[in-house]
Amino acid sequence: MVDLNQQRIDAWNSENLPIYEPGLDEVVKACRGRNLFFSTDCEAAIRAAQCIFVSVNTPTKKTGLGKGKAADLTYWESAARNIAAWSTSDKIIVEKSTVPVRTAEAIEKVLLRNCPAQGVHFDILSNPEFLAEGTAIDDLTAPDRVLIGGKIENERGTAACAALVDVYANWVPRERILTANLWSAELSKLTANAMLAQRISSINAISALCECTGADVSQVSFAIGKDSRIGPKFLNASVGFGGSCFQKDILNLAYICECHGLQEVADYWYSVVGMNDYQKTRFVRRVVSAMFNTIRNKKIAMLGFAFKKDTGDTRETPAIDVASGMIDDGAKIALFDPQVPEEQVRMDMGDEAMKSITCYSKPMDALNDAHAVTIMTEWDEFKTYDWKAIYEVMHKPAFVFDGRNILDHAHLREIGFIVYALGKPIDPFLKSAEGA
Ligand code: UGA
Repeated sequence: MVDLNQQRIDAWNSENLPIYEPGLDEVVKACRGRNLFFSTDCEAAIRAAQCIFVSVNTPTKKTGLGKGKAADLTYWESAARNIAAWSTSDKIIVEKSTVPVRTAEAIEKVLLRNCPAQGVHFDILSNPEFLAEGTAIDDLTAPDRVLIGGKIENERGTAACAALVDVYANWVPRERILTANLWSAELSKLTANAMLAQRISSINAISALCECTGADVSQVSFAIGKDSRIGPKFLNASVGFGGSCFQKDILNLAYICECHGLQEVADYWYSVVGMNDYQKTRFVRRVVSAMFNTIRNKKIAMLGFAFKKDTGDTRETPAIDVASGMIDDGAKIALFDPQVPEEQVRMDMGDEAMKSITCYSKPMDALNDAHAVTIMTEWDEFKTYDWKAIYEVMHKPAFVFDGRNILDHAHLREIGFIVYALGKPIDPFLKSAEGA
């Protein structure tokens, strides 16, 4: 495992790994120094390898052509240039990073034209990663499928695919290892994420309608998920999807469609992101209107900041937009997340917003004297809190806005809370609120 960043590699070699992921510590500790090594010596690693997995960042472009939509392949290209410069023997190059369709073609050109050694052959494979954060180790050890794309129309490509299939076959049943042509594999990755995000935006759209009609989105999800053609997963209404992948990949997919002149197809996928933005805005509007149309100088406890439970990752977390929206309305935010440190919140929110945010290391300190609680992440520990004790230390009326539908709402109402739960029948108290 090589990286140019010394600090990161030092962290991987230390007791405190640079990312939090359940089960990861155990795997790293069991293998480090045995068949897993972390180093910054990229040249030696590239020279020695028969097969190189390229897993560099491919963020959304911030400037230039395709700004805000296209994938930025700067890191990919620079990795390819290094591989070309240092390779003296044949290599299988595996695209692990999420990339636009036909990236392999561009990378091949870079590799072929920059390799000074004679006769070196590169076989490029696409092997998109489907694991999700928080469940990464389980997803890796027991994947639904592994997808390997290569130039299966020729012998070399078929042999390269077979070599990678053999690696996975050490722990994945062969019938779960799929092979495809390069472009299908690349496009499948973007499509999988777009379709998953689309399910969330679809159910989030219905959550808004549920609130108007007295339907309950959990009951709707349950009922439709029983249809085996739909299935039960990824139908939880939420304050919005986040993470480093969904928005980035949909924008990238839509941009590729635009580049091919398929504006209607692009607009279809853009609307999935649009619905996600709407859901976050709608949540803030609910908070403000419920609390008598003003949250100025009110302490609002925010439980959770990560984009999902069991990770400290905050990339594109809906909490960023919700916090910004509430700060625009003058709120003072008291934040607690079991895994997200204050420096990370500062990086995400900026110094100006931090004047209105206080981060706490104990949940009770965030909740004390608060007017309202907003649940942003579905951390299991939030369900186990003593909500009666919390009610006692809050201002009245005490509000709970459950952006993840994880709490026992009937119990909270018994205690005395005014509860807003996404996509659920609205409390009579909130029904009279304006503008929601
Ligand atoms: C996602 C995909 O699920 C992975 O298959 C893919 O490999 C990964 O992106 C990637 O491209 O690297 P990840 O972003 O880690 O994984 O997390 P998800 O579990 O997909 O959650 C994404 C967001 O959707 C979270 O904010 C989550 O809270 C939200 N979500 C998920 C909902 O709001 N409702 C649901 O029913 C499910």
